[in-house]
Amino acid sequence: MKFFVDTAEVSEIRELHDIGLLDGVTTNPSLIAKSGRDFKEVVKEICDLLPGLPVSAEVAATDYDGMMAEADVLAKIADNVVVKLPLTLAGLKACKALTGRGIKTNVTLCFSANQALLAAKVGATYISPFIGRIDDLNVDGMQLIQDIRIIYDNYGFETEILAASIRSANHVSDAALSGADVATIPPGVLKKLADHVLTDKGLDAFVKDWKSTGQSII
Ligand code: E4P
Repeated sequence: MKFFVDTAEVSEIRELHDIGLLDGVTTNPSLIAKSGRDFKEVVKEICDLLPGLPVSAEVAATDYDGMMAEADVLAKIADNVVVKLPLTLAGLKACKALTGRGIKTNVTLCFSANQALLAAKVGATYISPFIGRIDDLNVDGMQLIQDIRIIYDNYGFETEILAASIRSANHVSDAALSGADVATIPPGVLKKLADHVLTDKGLDAFVKDWKSTGQSII
């Protein structure tokens, strides 16, 4: 499973990339607003930090012409920009046109299997089902990942399932078990994947016992 980090904070991206955990980055207008930075500048910085890895940058327009004009600007920022489009009829039309031009796309705000089917039909590179926001409605978000996996496999669609709106470590392992190709994960959740109370307890005991030997390795 590929790991993308869901943030526009460059320092957090750098920290996770230095560990070797990242296969890409996703941003959205809310994350850009939270960063307080210039959108195009921050996208360029992220793309330079992760050359060759996909970096999703979302259009702000909601009409077809506006999305296409913005997509042109975003795609020119760097080769690894993935244009993120909303799952609307206008967004799907833009996805089809951009796919025809060889530009990678991430169709976002997906909440149903039918929406995912449409995104695959217009050749989206990634489809982003929002797990956490579905869970918030007291409906099982992970079931959507499983349904999309079956549909895409039934027809051999190559669109990658990008599990989004991840809120917990369990979401990540459940998305992996459900066959998601990618998970886009907030930095805090991604770091928590390494945590286990028995790892901490075991390490404390090893450190204590090693000290008692009075030895040193170096
Ligand atoms: C995906 O690309 C979105 O940026 C993100 O996962 C949305 O997550 P949220 O529901 O926590 O805002």
